[in-house]
Amino acid sequence: MTSRDLHQQDPLVAGWIAKEMDRQEYGLELIPSENYVSRSVLEAAGSVLTNKYAEGLPHKRYYGGCEFVDEVEAIAIDRAKQLFGCFGANVQPHSGSQANTAAYLALINPGDTIMGMNLSHGGHLTHGSPVNFSGKFFKVVAYGVNPETELIDYNQVRDLATQHRPKLIMVGYSAYSRDLDYTTFRAIADEVGAYLVADIAHPAGLIAADLLNDPIPHCHVVTTTTHKTLRGPRAGLVMFREEFEKPINKIVFPGIQGGPLMHIIAAKAVALGEALQPSFKAYARQVITNTKALAEGLTKRGYRIVSGGTDNHLCLVDFTDRGISGKDAEEALGKAAITVNKNTIPRETRSPFVTSGIRLGAPAITTRGMKEPEMATIAGWIADVLDDVTNTKRQTEIRNEVHHLCERFPIYR
Ligand SMILES: Cc1ncc(COP(=O)(O)O)c(C=O)c1O
Repeated sequence: MTSRDLHQQDPLVAGWIAKEMDRQEYGLELIPSENYVSRSVLEAAGSVLTNKYAEGLPHKRYYGGCEFVDEVEAIAIDRAKQLFGCFGANVQPHSGSQANTAAYLALINPGDTIMGMNLSHGGHLTHGSPVNFSGKFFKVVAYGVNPETELIDYNQVRDLATQHRPKLIMVGYSAYSRDLDYTTFRAIADEVGAYLVADIAHPAGLIAADLLNDPIPHCHVVTTTTHKTLRGPRAGLVMFREEFEKPINKIVFPGIQGGPLMHIIAAKAVALGEALQPSFKAYARQVITNTKALAEGLTKRGYRIVSGGTDNHLCLVDFTDRGISGKDAEEALGKAAITVNKNTIPRETRSPFVTSGIRLGAPAITTRGMKEPEMATIAGWIADVLDDVTNTKRQTEIRNEVHHLCERFPIYR
């Protein structure tokens, strides 16, 4: 076996990784679903556990030699239970999409009706989009936000549920900046005999820090990714009540996955351990403070924030009256080394490749240690770029200023 490092062994791939490292280090990452993991999480994810097959669950495996990875997976499960206060957890889903697949197939059957949030109002592909397995396997009834308030319309949810009697209601979104009323969702689910599943992929870290409403007491199953506000490796997690332990565990393996990614499970264990520290609560609180500061800074410069603000780690900026698209904004900000993503907004008229808005948030820049003063500066830069998306001179100036700011808040260097 070679002992050469990656730069010697494969300079081509190593070179692109180094470039990506520089992009992360010297750019402002405002995509709210991204974050920077700690060196410890990186180390676990890059560990020799990638070599191990471990189908099954801790101490009940289909492979020998699992005595050490068993301990690692047991730690990850225990920490997930402690952090979220759930009865049990399966830490094997490779992604948030796999966690949602597991939740659906453990609770209902193909052909059943589900309710999920309309994609253009902030839902996720796995909540019933026609291009996703969820929209192909299930009959889908989409709910949305109230066009006036841009908040979830609980009356509409109740009316649709009463009319269509879904077997499962999916709650939790990719682009919704407000907290959720799980008590009302559960009451609606009970009225029609549906399971209630929360997908907390986005706000998981804020829920773990007790800063947003807790779905665990109200939902039959809760799914999440581990790589967004939770600041762990790219992966998924399913949490359940006692009665769903067997169905969830059986559907994850052998139902929809083969061997678990033990190196990623080790990284999840490390990240969950970090999230149990008091410092994580302070981080999560600052994420919300920073995101509000970004939204307020943009509002002051005349930009409209969907629903008028944010309770969490993200906000949506609406360009309907500004003569630019989300695509224009994403490209112009990219030239200034500010990364955001174009996003559909409620009442969207453009295609998802163009859109009328952008989604941005503070999880990643908060991990770097940035606070309110930096948010004010960043909101000013964003507004400068958006005020004239053709002004390449200003974009270049801001790119240089971003570089200097990032040097003051290093990620890994
Ligand atoms: C609400 C929600 N659920 C699920 C997912 C899917 O996660 P993954 O990309 O890990 O499959 C996402 C990803 O953006 C998400 O926002």
